[in-house]
Amino acid sequence: EYVILNGEILPRQDARIDVEDRGYQFGDGVYEVIRIYNGKMFTVTEHLERLEASAEKIGMKLAWTITELEVLFARLIEINSLETGIVYMQVTRGISPRSHAYPPAGTAQTLVAYTRNMPRPELNFSDGVKTILTEDIRWLRCDIKSLNLLGNIMAKQKAAEAGCYEAILHRGEKVTEGSSSNIFIIKDGSMYTHPANNFILNGITRQTIEKLCAAHGIPFIEKEFSVAELEDADEVIVGSTTSEVTPVVEIEGKPVGDGKPGHVTRQLQKLFDGEIE
Ligand code: PDD
Repeated sequence: EYVILNGEILPRQDARIDVEDRGYQFGDGVYEVIRIYNGKMFTVTEHLERLEASAEKIGMKLAWTITELEVLFARLIEINSLETGIVYMQVTRGISPRSHAYPPAGTAQTLVAYTRNMPRPELNFSDGVKTILTEDIRWLRCDIKSLNLLGNIMAKQKAAEAGCYEAILHRGEKVTEGSSSNIFIIKDGSMYTHPANNFILNGITRQTIEKLCAAHGIPFIEKEFSVAELEDADEVIVGSTTSEVTPVVEIEGKPVGDGKPGHVTRQLQKLFDGEIE
């Protein structure tokens, strides 16, 4: 199994990170997760552009161009003979004596990437998943795909302890997103999701779903909705790189709609399949 450390592809056991890497000490960096289908990266440009945008939002100019990254990751996928899975990548502000302020200009950023085999979660697609609700306690820049994920992992842990797949986050009455996904509701044939502002990550899957809705006459409305509206929805979807279009059939033990994946969800799943080469 090979990984990427900075510009190099090397055996995983040979990749070493310094104890004062700022990603390790401060979570000072950004990341992406890209799906691999049939040995190819799905929506790679969108993900790498978002990586660059996340870096810029924290005052980092990526030391690698999007093209360089794409070439590197494609080689890694090839060397690891990956067919279905993910490539994970992160870039940190580099290694420097611990001090909160940014390190001196010219400090080398640390890039790490690895692949993982991961089948598509077919059973979740067909049967749907259970969820819990929990207060969104994260910071006010959730649009940045930051390595700081404590608010997300604490929410996911709560879901896991309840035997659920995802935690749906809300700020007061308003639903924001999932702990590692975007949340969509369908009511009377229209799809609703939180606007792409500082309170959510603008998912690439979300953007694919938006495009598919537009192309197939499903009204796609970017508008905040409440917990009550979520509980009253006909259908609810968890959307992300790894979850794709996953139906939610239960929220806090109560069924969504008739408790089975709905027909708009099924239609979107088919359309999403059609996007995969
Ligand atoms: N999570 N919102 C949050 C908080 C996320 O962490 C993610 C992705 C999304 C969906 O984004 P996308 O459709 O681009 O994957 C929304 C990734 C998969 C993760 O952290 O593993």
